[in-house]
Amino acid sequence: MGQTVLVTGGSGYIGSHACVALLEAGHTVIVLDNLSNSSEIALQRVHQICARAPLFIHADIRDAAALAAVFEAHEVDAVMHFAGLKAVGESVTMPLSYYDNNVTGSLVLLQAMEAAGVNNIVFSSSATVYGDPASVPIGENSPLNPTSPYGWTKMMVERVLTDWQHADAGRSVALLRYFNPVGAHPSGLIGEDPRGFPNNLMPFISQVAVGERDKLHVFGDDYATLDGTGVRDYIHVLDLVDGHLKALDFVAAKPGLHTINLGTGQGVSVLQMVAAFEQASGRQIPYAVVARRPGDIAQCWADPARARHLLQWEAQRDLTQMCADSWRWQQGNPCGYR
Ligand code: NAD
Ligand code: UFG
Repeated sequence: MGQTVLVTGGSGYIGSHACVALLEAGHTVIVLDNLSNSSEIALQRVHQICARAPLFIHADIRDAAALAAVFEAHEVDAVMHFAGLKAVGESVTMPLSYYDNNVTGSLVLLQAMEAAGVNNIVFSSSATVYGDPASVPIGENSPLNPTSPYGWTKMMVERVLTDWQHADAGRSVALLRYFNPVGAHPSGLIGEDPRGFPNNLMPFISQVAVGERDKLHVFGDDYATLDGTGVRDYIHVLDLVDGHLKALDFVAAKPGLHTINLGTGQGVSVLQMVAAFEQASGRQIPYAVVARRPGDIAQCWADPARARHLLQWEAQRDLTQMCADSWRWQQGNPCGYR
């Protein structure tokens, strides 16, 4: 049965891919986004891919009146909550913006949901809540130890959602802890479009490949990993959003609090990623090893067993496909949506 889903942050990188998956699955989609880190063109592209459009509301999640109006005008069954700020380094210099957008924004959203009697929410959390893990793979019961204001906002919102669910057994919450989302829709029409200097590895590599930047800086090659460079669990954004659709059905079927890692369970080093991208693009990626980036951890990958067990979900797409799809998006849109 199709649901009506409010997607906060739906014009962003992951949100726009979620809109495609939701529309393709027959759901009705309402996007609420303030466009602070995205473009409405992403939603036009979603329309192009699906031949159906989400309803777009240009508003901020901290705007209680705007949220009340959405819930009054539509019978919303569930919320997918992507909206928020996500740059780790920026969160250190602008912590109040992060607490305001991510924590206050989530509180205002939940108050509006509660007033409207909307009980189901799927929340974008992050593996960053684990901080520097004592061991890998990381299971959901590993200690939480965020190392940045951004990470603390995710942990705080998890806490708020936990208490909100505990207050009423009819409520249902999925806390989805993403590992490292990469890749793009295979149409090449939507993808990751960072503003300014990319903080993350995959957009940086693809900008080097397309000639937007000279070379990649590899942040340290003296970690205790297979080749000395940082190891992460990269997950194709389409697999990630498939996990969200499974979680949407799961929260509807099983009211409760569900904390679930979304990762592949495989670690990939920076140099392995460079090699895979060179293979997929047929371009050389010049790089230089520089100092470690402050706050980085050596390695991090998920134990995805709970997602397999609860959601019957497993990542399907390999590193070759992640690189090929990122490359198609980057080549077709060298300046993103601009
Ligand atoms: P994104 O920046 O592309 O998307 C976030 C969207 O939220 C943007 O469209 C932005 O305009 C919107 N937004 C921000 N603040 C808002 C506000 N106050 N009101 C309304 N809209 C607002 O980021 P993304 O990569 O798509 O990430 C989506 C979610 O997933 C975020 O919550 C992020 O923290 C989380 N996450 C992302 C990653 C990653 O590596 N991309 C990893 C773990 C978790
Ligand atoms: N790296 C480089 N050069 C770059 C960028 C990154 O060598 O220009 C390296 C990093 O040192 C790290 C790896 O590539 O070893 C991945 O770095 P990213 O910045 O792409 O990803 P992180 O794992 O540091 O962080 C990301 C998101 C966080 C999220 C976390 C866990 O930025 O928001 O994944 O999901 F919390």
